[in-house]
Amino acid sequence: MTDSPLTDVEACVFDAYGTLLDVHSAVARHADDVGPRYAELSAEWRRRQLEYTWLRSLMLAFTDFESVTREALDVSLKVFDLDTALIAPLMQSYRSLDAFADVPGTLAVLGQAGFSRSILSNGTEDMLAEGVRAAGIEQHLDNIYSVDAVRIYKPDPAVYQLCVDRLGVSAQRVLFMSSNAWDAAGAAHFGFQVVWINRYGQPAETLPGKPVRTITSLDALPGIVGIC
Ligand code: LAC
Repeated sequence: MTDSPLTDVEACVFDAYGTLLDVHSAVARHADDVGPRYAELSAEWRRRQLEYTWLRSLMLAFTDFESVTREALDVSLKVFDLDTALIAPLMQSYRSLDAFADVPGTLAVLGQAGFSRSILSNGTEDMLAEGVRAAGIEQHLDNIYSVDAVRIYKPDPAVYQLCVDRLGVSAQRVLFMSSNAWDAAGAAHFGFQVVWINRYGQPAETLPGKPVRTITSLDALPGIVGIC
């Protein structure tokens, strides 16, 4: 049975890292310098980066996402006994990640149908501005909201509330897309309608907050909001 389209969506809001931008494209570009365990390094970096955001939020010790990302990379390189001279080139690549192939077309179609398209991300304002420009999707985005404004990380409700306040729409009329299952849960628990982009075929999390739809690629998103 096919789910019927959602008809009460006023704004489409996207997570950035892992959802629009491929976080693993940074290390992949330097695979020759990093060596055969480059994919493991990338996974370790991402895991620690996220853990540091959660831990710093609990500690009430916010520092911006660029610093968190660099600090997580420093430790991850040491875990793999790799040279910390790799920090500079890898951080540079993190500022110009590739967009996933399904991103530009989907954003364009949503825009043509009249939906506003925003980013709500842990990233700094600078990282996000540079990232969407480098990925060639800047022209498909109407707003970029960074946690810089609230100085706490997802899934703190203050982050999702920031988006409600800036957009001026009720939480129930925001359709939020994330490939990060914990972010999808946090946003749904807050009150957004959530589409989990399960890019990596992961099992559903057993956390509060359930997505209204789960898809494996953004290509299915226009159908969910009733665009044929
Ligand atoms: C972000 C992280 C969660 O962009 O990927 O907010």
